Amino acid sequence: MKPNAVLSLLQDGQVHSGEHLAEQLGVSRTAVWKQLRKAMDEGCQIETVRGRGYRLLQPVDLLDEADLVAALADDQRRRLSLTLLEAVDSTNAEVIRRWPTAAGIPVCIADCQTAGRGRRGRTWQSPKGENLYMSLGLTFQGGFAALDGLSLVLGVAVAEALESLGAAEVGLKWPNDIFAPGGKLGGILVELQGEWQEGIAQVIVGIGINVHMNDAGGVDQPWRSLDLAYPEQHWSRNRIAAAILGRILACSDQFAGEGFAPFIEPWQSRDIFRDKALRARDGALAGIGAGIDASGNYLLDTDEGRVAVRAGEISLRAAS
Ligand code: BTN
Repeated sequence: MKPNAVLSLLQDGQVHSGEHLAEQLGVSRTAVWKQLRKAMDEGCQIETVRGRGYRLLQPVDLLDEADLVAALADDQRRRLSLTLLEAVDSTNAEVIRRWPTAAGIPVCIADCQTAGRGRRGRTWQSPKGENLYMSLGLTFQGGFAALDGLSLVLGVAVAEALESLGAAEVGLKWPNDIFAPGGKLGGILVELQGEWQEGIAQVIVGIGINVHMNDAGGVDQPWRSLDLAYPEQHWSRNRIAAAILGRILACSDQFAGEGFAPFIEPWQSRDIFRDKALRARDGALAGIGAGIDASGNYLLDTDEGRVAVRAGEISLRAAS
């Protein structure tokens, strides 16, 4: 029986008898009960209706390969080698492990991560069932030299995907943090895996999007989830994953063919730092946000003129 098989039958919010659930799944009633017990232990609210069966009290958003695949275009689906997991250390690490045997672009999505990684060595909070944790492995001709701007292209792809599902005013914080009004909605971790063959760069792209989270102890910056920022929309992790995969495939194909130029304007129009007082280089550089250059570096207008920031963190300067 699949890990969430019972929950997926209860998703309609109706009462289902143990006998009927067992029959539909072709398993014993004990097996059904065990899965219900595990779900309840993990915080799922299931009511036992005396003499009738079980009912889910709160909607759950289960990861489901069939749902996800159904939301992808045929030509994109065929290119992917998809793995959905209940738990993993990090989906980025899993993509690296699976890459050698994957038939197609390896994609890994997990319901939770036990060692989720953020940029700059940070931890990425990855509670079970609440958010999207997804990684994929991409290859590019031309070696690492051809990857200038890729990380920003990925930010544009994710922003466009969320907008296509109804998120308004999605912003980008250089290089590729995803913002909703009120705080950070998600992040992208790009890891270079080494040149696989001469001139072919392997890139692991890890995407974390806060979907249903409404409490995040330990997150040290303002954050939002899709549910909190856009409560009028119904957010499904399967549909979000499919939309993001679709946009990433389309944008990375375009990037491979045409380079970074077509993405400059889409990135600039979402820049949350434009015209803001900023600091970079661990506070050593102060200036006003002036957008990106043709290589994807961030520009600061400083007292000494315009300076391009190539790496590191840029943040808002506290008003003095
Ligand atoms: C950031 O620090 O803003 C980037 C966060 C990236 C988190 C995602 S979740 C899926 C993938 N697996 C990881 O371990 N990290 C990325």
